Amino acid sequence: MATRTSLSNVFPLGSRLNERGRVEVGGCDTIELAKQFGTPAYVVAEDDVRARAQTFLSAGEGHDDFNVVFASKAFPCTAVLALFAQEGLWCDVASAGELHLALNAGYAAERIVMHGNAKSEAELSAALGVRVGLIVVDNSDELDRLERLTGAGAGEEAPQEVLIRVTPDVRGETHEKISTGQANSKFGFGMDEVQEAIERVRTIRGLSLQGLHAHVGSQLLELDPFRREVAEVARLGEFSVWDLGGGLGVPYTEAQPSPPTIEDYVGTLLSAAREHGMGAPGKRLLIEPGRALTANAGVTLYTVESVKRNVSTWVAVDGGMSDNLRPMLYGTSYEAHVADRFIGTTRCVIAGKHCESGDVIVRDALLDDPRPGDVIVTPATGAYGFAMASNYNGVPRPPVVFCKDDDARVVVRRESFEDLTARDVHRTLAEGCTHANRAGAHPGEHARGSECSQAGSAAGGARVSGVCDR
Ligand code: LLP
Repeated sequence: MATRTSLSNVFPLGSRLNERGRVEVGGCDTIELAKQFGTPAYVVAEDDVRARAQTFLSAGEGHDDFNVVFASKAFPCTAVLALFAQEGLWCDVASAGELHLALNAGYAAERIVMHGNAKSEAELSAALGVRVGLIVVDNSDELDRLERLTGAGAGEEAPQEVLIRVTPDVRGETHEKISTGQANSKFGFGMDEVQEAIERVRTIRGLSLQGLHAHVGSQLLELDPFRREVAEVARLGEFSVWDLGGGLGVPYTEAQPSPPTIEDYVGTLLSAAREHGMGAPGKRLLIEPGRALTANAGVTLYTVESVKRNVSTWVAVDGGMSDNLRPMLYGTSYEAHVADRFIGTTRCVIAGKHCESGDVIVRDALLDDPRPGDVIVTPATGAYGFAMASNYNGVPRPPVVFCKDDDARVVVRRESFEDLTARDVHRTLAEGCTHANRAGAHPGEHARGSECSQAGSAAGGARVSGVCDR
């Protein structure tokens, strides 16, 4: 029996164990949510997401032009994007697809910041076409493209406002796969190249250089790298816009070292900016949080399918690496609990349903006597899980359910089996024919009823020609 009612800061704000001893998120009983919407399911506490957006905004009130740009890659779901648009945030997009999602969710183009280390001509044209607020230039090939594209309409329109992305050669402690500020990074201009880039942008009539951008990495649990980042980029000159990126870390488990609060993080950036001359009135400061806005607002619900005991106790659930790739990619530790028996003492491995041994969601969960049919809740899954989901093993992607005041609504439905084949155009290379396409034996496209060398099989499996019957 559970003996506690409040839940740690790993869970969405306002989560608790209710009178029935069940985990409640956004006022909704997770066992009831699992019944109503099925599992796996991403559950988001709407009030939590709004509260974090407001905390970021009010933490920045000390600066007159401070803007919070949601890094949409963290949770590129229309309802989440629309909620942040309503709350007054801007949006960071890193592809034409994310640009489409942001515009579709209601962001004014001037509040969109376009990123990407490999922006195609089509992506740049899309950004220029809608006149995004800022394009963050990553490299000189991109500048060639921008020069060409803006040159075509030169003189007719106001120049596109851009920032230059700098790699400040600052390293924070995080997983190497999500560290970006080091000199040997695939992102941005190095400190030794950036002056040349600045001069070059200033010669391009279709572009207007507003300032610089830097992002040192993600899931950073200390403030010092942010201070060093500001000090480094400040050396590069006087600008009217400074975009300091994202990266504030979040708690994934109660045992993990606590990250700085949002207030401390924003306060640190603002005082470093002031100290280095970026904080003067009239200067625009941008930050780009992703994870810190959504990770702890979401939990994932699973159902236990089987419990197996060998060296370990293996609790296999109905999702896994197709809905949360983070433990496999970055070795991230998560918590897991039985939704209606929160505290347990059986050490378990929570395994996913996918066909590989690496599909483990939690290596060392302490569960209360898990059994098939139990609902498992995994907190802190509101960032980068939905974004990096896949259909591995033909598993449909989960729905997103928003919860608020005991009210739950699906904002993204569960994928269907039909969705899994919805993009198919031809069933084989030959339209209307599903016979295996063996090189030479089944050439070209042909329709049902036409001659087909694979149309039938004789005894022994040999193929014979005939009229295609598929
Ligand atoms: N701005 C830029 C330019 C970025 O590249 C990123 C993240 C952010 C902002 C937001 O960073 P955040 O505040 O979320 O740390 N898939 C990985 C995270 C990759 C982050 C990539 N860039 C994960 O699941 O941990």
